[in-house]
Amino acid sequence: MKSTKIVVAYSGGLDTSVMVKWLIERKDAEVIAATGDLGQKKELNGVQAKAYATGASKVYVRDLREEFLTGYVWPALKAGAVYEKSYPMATALGRPLLAKMLVDIARKEGATHVAHGCTGKGNDQVRFEVSVAALAPDLKVLAPLREWEFKSREEEIVYARKNNIPVAATVASPYSIDENIWGTSIECGVLEDPMVEPPADAYQRSISPELAPDTPEYVDIDFEEGIPVGVGGSRLEPVSLVFTLNDMGGAHGVGRIDLVENRLVGIKSREIYEAPGASILHFAHTELERLTLDKSVFHMKNQLASEYADLVYNGLWYSPLKNALDAFVDETQKTVTGTVRVKLYKGNIGVAGRKSVFSLYNARLATYTEEDQFDHRASEGFIKIFGLPVRTYHQVQNAVAAGLEEQPEKEVLQSVPVR
Ligand code: ARG
Repeated sequence: MKSTKIVVAYSGGLDTSVMVKWLIERKDAEVIAATGDLGQKKELNGVQAKAYATGASKVYVRDLREEFLTGYVWPALKAGAVYEKSYPMATALGRPLLAKMLVDIARKEGATHVAHGCTGKGNDQVRFEVSVAALAPDLKVLAPLREWEFKSREEEIVYARKNNIPVAATVASPYSIDENIWGTSIECGVLEDPMVEPPADAYQRSISPELAPDTPEYVDIDFEEGIPVGVGGSRLEPVSLVFTLNDMGGAHGVGRIDLVENRLVGIKSREIYEAPGASILHFAHTELERLTLDKSVFHMKNQLASEYADLVYNGLWYSPLKNALDAFVDETQKTVTGTVRVKLYKGNIGVAGRKSVFSLYNARLATYTEEDQFDHRASEGFIKIFGLPVRTYHQVQNAVAAGLEEQPEKEVLQSVPVR
């Protein structure tokens, strides 16, 4: 019996495979591998056998796709949480759920440690460790990539060969790729030069807009209380709904994002994202809110959206601020029910129509025809009072500039006729 039991977040890639062996060897530990299926396209069938072959004593592969969407992605979608106005946060949203999986399994197995394969200069280490700290403050977290001796992929491969760790025979991608159902994150290689346009092979799940069909595609998306429930008139479960929009959007080259972003650890990095479904859903959801939310609620919610995005990006999913923002957002979503018709065309997402029983759009108030019921005369008094502070300010400024000893009486200022 080994004294230390470690649950490892295992992907089947080179880093986490080497990690399993390294932990067994260096920490004299029993290692349990845990893989979460968040809807990554990469085949998970071989993962179990590979983990055993690498020395894991037990392997868990959990389908977390539905929980990922309903418990993590939908709240972020409802909040309009997009980091630095661009990144829908597929990677960032997945980490707290993977951390929860590690904690669940550690409890079940009586493990004292969990380990992840994140590097020492990214956001993901923070997300994993802060999430584990929140869910299980007593568990210790190991981050082998921060402490081990390997300085390159080549050195890891040498170690893997020496230890009979199965290494994929395929030519390694020059990119670092993290993917799940909400999107793909791609960095490294030539992408590290922000002046270099991503080569075609950097993209994994979308066609280039130049090669996209010449005819646009229209699709209706139905929402209930801010949550997407149907596509093209058919009701769909969360997983198939997002897969459907990923395929549709990918075929029209939508959802490609090229971003120089501010990491939590203080550096700027350049990342390419592909998130066709996420981009379409954020777009459509906002369009429905434009129709159904009261103006001040819509404005306040937009301010809080960037706060929400920051906290997700910074690994604070299990925080009181997140819970408090969710309560606000959920209150706002009570009327975000309806349909948005989007138009996908050569990399663009446009709105082609929207409707809701809660629509606050009033045609009789908005129209310029004889149906008009807006009280035009009421605007006169409204403008007089609304513009009063600005009028007062400029009268004082003008008086000072003209060198007047005494300023005109306030009363005089205020009784100046509107025209
Ligand atoms: N920059 C993104 C984030 O912090 C993605 C990180 C993972 N990217 C990757 N290519 N492995 O959420």
